[in-house]
Amino acid sequence: MTKAKHLVVVGDSREMDFVRDNSIMVCVTSPPYFRRKEYETQYSTYEEYRQYLKQVWTEVHKKLSHSGLLFVNIGDSFDNQFKSHEIANDILDCGFNLVQTVVWVKVQHSPVQGDKHLNHLYEYIFIFSKAQDYSLQRLAIGIPYKDKSNIGRWKVAKDDLRCRGDVWFINYETVQRHSQKLHEAIFPKQLPELCIKLASSKSSDTVLDPFLGSGTTILAAADLGRSSIGYEINASYERIIRRKLASVENLEVIRAVSN
Ligand SMILES: C[S@@+](CC[C@H](N)C(=O)[O-])C[C@H]1O[C@@H](n2cnc3c(N)ncnc32)[C@H](O)[C@@H]1O
Repeated sequence: MTKAKHLVVVGDSREMDFVRDNSIMVCVTSPPYFRRKEYETQYSTYEEYRQYLKQVWTEVHKKLSHSGLLFVNIGDSFDNQFKSHEIANDILDCGFNLVQTVVWVKVQHSPVQGDKHLNHLYEYIFIFSKAQDYSLQRLAIGIPYKDKSNIGRWKVAKDDLRCRGDVWFINYETVQRHSQKLHEAIFPKQLPELCIKLASSKSSDTVLDPFLGSGTTILAAADLGRSSIGYEINASYERIIRRKLASVENLEVIRAVSN
């Protein structure tokens, strides 16, 4: 068995020259926010932001294998409660099919102040396919039956494992102090883990994250024995990524942008 390899490209994922076309089995990612964080320097309007992201979705489509799947995690904000679905629609325009929308219930969440809104408890994970011949390893992320009398009742229910469904309860890794935060918008490692297990059954499969951030997707892929590639445009995150991936074997970091 060949050992898994991991590549971090500090560079722009609108052109992923280090990734072979049709070679990726699973892409898991969360796009940058519009205007809420410091790193958005490439676009000044919401339309430009969507066009910017579309260049990445088009590139991902090229890199994904025929039976591969794309998982995109997006949350909404109160000032645009349709943003996630607008971006999902843009992804369809880039040639993908929508397989299913998963709701990620954030077990911990930031409390909303004031009397205008309720606490916001969920984000989406949109699952897209490139073609119809994908398959979901549903029981690879299965959960035990609540009512054990169902075991053996259905043809599929041989073991104490049932399909998790499309609402996923995933804990946020909380930090006590702001200074402990590695990156502003990290998703919990369990999120890419569930996506990778659901979409990839072979250790030879490769995972891609075009918006790598702190490196969570690579860490998840490495723990599951899959190879992976991540692109991060902000060179100042390289130090954070190296710290997070310090225990990952066979890791190479290539700089494709200058500091
Ligand atoms: C929401 S964060 C991803 C966080 C990541 N899921 C994690 O757990 O750390 C989005 C990241 O995309 C990066 N980014 C934005 N545009 C990019 C591009 N064209 N190519 C590569 N990375 C980009 C941003 O710098 C940011 O770190």
